[in-house]
Amino acid sequence: MFCTKLVAVFAVSVTLAMASLAETHAYTADKHKAAGLQCADCHGDAPKSNINQTACLKCHDSMQAVAKRTADMSPNPHDNHRASVTACLQCHHGHKRDEVSCTECHFDVELKRNK
Ligand code: HEC
Ligand code: HEC
Ligand code: HEC
Ligand code: HEC
Repeated sequence: MFCTKLVAVFAVSVTLAMASLAETHAYTADKHKAAGLQCADCHGDAPKSNINQTACLKCHDSMQAVAKRTADMSPNPHDNHRASVTACLQCHHGHKRDEVSCTECHFDVELKRNK
């Protein structure tokens, strides 16, 4: 196993395309509300913090399915060497700013839209 804190060893550039989210303070749950969804769509009848990605996959199908939507990004946040071991909620939070779990190992990772 390689060390989980390989900080800064990489030339791989991974900064985030999430500035736009932060600027508008439109977090994941707000965006769903704007799309007409209810609390219960993610939470069932009891809003609480311990939800998992099963709630997301109900509508978004799979990591592979969302990877198609971000095929214009490189690296693709949903299709990379960690995709099979990374859960939606490690990056997309409900009521706080999204983050990019890649920074756990990559000091500087830039997930860019190519257009
Ligand atoms: C897109 C799915 C989604 C929707 C819609 C959503 N939530 Fe959440 N909610 C989450 C997630 C994910 C968490 C886990 C905490 C986190 O990562 O922000 C959470 C956590 C919570 C928590 C636990 C406290 C906390 O912040 O951790 C409460 C309370 C909550 N949500 C209430 C609500 C209410 C009320 C609504 C409707 C206005 C709502 N949620 C809509 C995804 C959602
Ligand atoms: C009940 C169906 C449903 C559930 C459950 C759901 N989503 Fe969504 N999600 C949608 C719809 C509808 C949209 C808006 C249209 C689109 O972009 O597909 C959306 C959009 C998104 C977007 C794009 C937001 C933007 O405009 O930038 C993200 C990211 C997302 N969802 C993540 C999640 C995550 C993470 C969860 C689990 C916590 C989740 N969704 C649960 C239906 C759902
Ligand atoms: C490694 C971090 C990461 C993980 C894990 C992740 N996402 Fe994303 N997701 C992103 C980033 C980055 C974007 C692009 C955001 C932007 O353009 O502002 C994105 C965009 C999206 C979008 C919008 C795509 C579009 O049309 O532009 C949806 C929907 C989405 N994610 C759902 C999910 C779901 C569902 C999961 C779990 C199966 C998931 N994501 C896991 C980082 C992640
Ligand atoms: C547990 C640590 C770890 C995490 C988390 C991690 N990586 Fe990596 N990544 C590595 C290692 C180790 C390498 C190999 C480095 C080398 O060859 O110099 C690597 C290489 C890469 C490369 C270049 C090689 C390739 O596969 O094309 C890319 C791109 C990359 N990672 C993207 C990501 C993205 C995107 C994420 C987040 C979704 C991520 N990584 C999360 C450890 C990690």
